[in-house]
Amino acid sequence: MTSHSDVEIPGDAELAQMSNDELARLGSRLDGVELVEYGERYVPGSPADKRAERKVAFWFLLAGLLGVLAAVAFIWWPAGYEDAYSDRQWLYALYTPVLGVTLGGCILALGIGVVAMAKKLMPHEVAVQARHEGGSAEVDRRTLVAEVMDAGDKAGLIKRRGVLKGSLVLAGGGLTLGAAIPILGGFIKNPWAEGPESQLWVTPWAPAPDGTKVRMVQVDGTPVSPADLEAGAMATVFPAVPGGGKASDAAVMLFRLRPGQAVSIRDGQQGFEYGDYYAYSKICTHVGCPVSLYEQQTGRILCPCHQSQFDVFDGARPVFGPATRPLPQLPLELDDEGYFVAASDFVEAVGPGFWENGKFPAWGSTPKGSS
Ligand code: FES
Repeated sequence: MTSHSDVEIPGDAELAQMSNDELARLGSRLDGVELVEYGERYVPGSPADKRAERKVAFWFLLAGLLGVLAAVAFIWWPAGYEDAYSDRQWLYALYTPVLGVTLGGCILALGIGVVAMAKKLMPHEVAVQARHEGGSAEVDRRTLVAEVMDAGDKAGLIKRRGVLKGSLVLAGGGLTLGAAIPILGGFIKNPWAEGPESQLWVTPWAPAPDGTKVRMVQVDGTPVSPADLEAGAMATVFPAVPGGGKASDAAVMLFRLRPGQAVSIRDGQQGFEYGDYYAYSKICTHVGCPVSLYEQQTGRILCPCHQSQFDVFDGARPVFGPATRPLPQLPLELDDEGYFVAASDFVEAVGPGFWENGKFPAWGSTPKGSS
């Protein structure tokens, strides 16, 4: 059976004479569709036609305007890094949202414009598709049901329906729980319950309760002394405490700069270095990847995840990419045996920034260094 058994198919010469409109109608008829109404929605040039055109144009204009604003913001927005204590930090913090809103708005307005154009300006049509009368033939119905049942039987679907039901309920419950737990979790455990000693402020570099300072060790547990690094070198070190090599906030990069290489020290962190040796957290302040690529000549530390770069000559401040805070610096000194130890824990939070960090104390906590 063919869908165009009742339609007379024109010859080649006749086809060549047909207009686009006639060809479109013929194509529809060959598919069993009859165009009952087809044509302009409004009389061209009429007030209704112009009104529809203005509505569509509004969305396209809005899209264009937002696109231009995105470009302007991208080029001229004062996006230079400002720390959390600067009065201009809000300008810096708004850079990404402004780009997102303008670009996202541009795409949205363009989409609405296209839909509006299809609904208001494209030709209006009413099509009727011929269907056979009544339900499907008995033979079609019975064979289709038999195929479905047979597939179910062969797979054991019917017999195991109880198990399937149970597992589906379990899967649905697990999915709901998984989606809800990030929201509910914050109400179950308060990460700030210990105030300044809260988990997010303290790392394994914190001195022991008796004041013993934590030694730096290599991954194999060997203590690190100044002689272990050549000028210009960088080594990853860990705190010599149980589990120190695995703690997510413990990995540190120890740098030995070349003699005479000047480093700008951040306020409140004078004396954190030991001679030409500087130690910075290895945990990226964007979303916590280990920053591990170091270029001696430029002093750039690169995070491979989203390409943030930090300048070791400028207190490990971010100079490129999405990270917004410098890598926290670990204060260094030597112990009695000449090995490096952390003079204290970090004085700021390690890893990804959280909104309470620095300027805005978290609920129930006091930021480090503010008490
Ligand atoms: S985690 Fe380092 S740039 Fe994103």
